[in-house]
Amino acid sequence: MTAVVREPADFRRACDEARGRGQRVGLVPTMGALHAGHLSLIDEAKARADFIAVTIFVNPLQFGEGEDLDRYPRTMEADLEGCRGRDVDVVFAPDPKAMYPDGFQTQVSLGEITKPLEGEFRPGHFDGVTTVVTKLFNLTGPSVAVFGRKDYQQWRILSRLALDLDMPIEVVGCAIIREADGLALSSRNRYLSASERKRALGIVTGLRAAYDAWTGGQRNPDTLRALAAAPVEALFDRADYVAAADPETLGAPEDPESRLLLAVAAHLGKTRLIDNVVLGEDPRP
Ligand SMILES: Nc1ncnc2c1ncn2[C@@H]1O[C@H](COP(=O)(O)OP(=O)(O)OP(=O)(O)O)[C@@H](O)[C@H]1O
Ligand SMILES: [Mg+2]
Repeated sequence: MTAVVREPADFRRACDEARGRGQRVGLVPTMGALHAGHLSLIDEAKARADFIAVTIFVNPLQFGEGEDLDRYPRTMEADLEGCRGRDVDVVFAPDPKAMYPDGFQTQVSLGEITKPLEGEFRPGHFDGVTTVVTKLFNLTGPSVAVFGRKDYQQWRILSRLALDLDMPIEVVGCAIIREADGLALSSRNRYLSASERKRALGIVTGLRAAYDAWTGGQRNPDTLRALAAAPVEALFDRADYVAAADPETLGAPEDPESRLLLAVAAHLGKTRLIDNVVLGEDPRP
């Protein structure tokens, strides 16, 4: 049975009771509009915990001015079906007012790791993420929390948050789930028109070109970056970044001979897509 709760106190009680029964609690935070990527996170949580909590909350704090908060896809009934199908124990779907009542004024904010890549183009975004995830961690008391590596920097930041603040939570990052043609699954893909959907492949085409060059021995970060960038620049309306970065710090590559993060964010019309690969670690995208 999947319980659906809207009040933070009810969610906390459900998780407390599970821990009281000696169960390990696994947390999967989402913004809803669930797809197979989200379901893979739930499966990973189930492999690592006994009681699975999924949160569905379009967090206003992490959307910037002019971003898509108002039109963000909301598909609650289908999402609940997906959670029931996976035997999720509790779904927490609060109203923004319940998470941020009048008088709310606390922010959780990390340092250097939040500055490059997404941080540069979405000012304040990660403060919104780390603040809401801290609240969700405190309500849930999970042993394990599961995130996707599509949002690679977010996963690194949340791992750092748990480490820095001594939260006894294992923060797991799952592989990116892709469509058959390679496009990374994203709730925002549903915004794409048919022609944008075709052009969206520019990202994975570029990541594959860089991956193949790496496999052939290429280790120059600028060369690999340029290979990833070419099809994005040709097919997208605008790129925020196509970057070669260190997979740990997200800053300048420190050991590009062994591992290199290539990360992309680019726009098709009103839709912004992100994707990445860690060369030397991930399989071919
Ligand atoms: N294709 C994917 N593979 C694996 N994990 C994913 C994938 N897409 C999203 N996730 C993960 O699901 C969790 C919830 O993300 P979210 O609800 O924002 O979905 P989303 O698809 O990223 O939506 P959007 O692209 O609109 O932000 C995050 O940890 C995210 O990294
Ligand atoms: Mg997302």
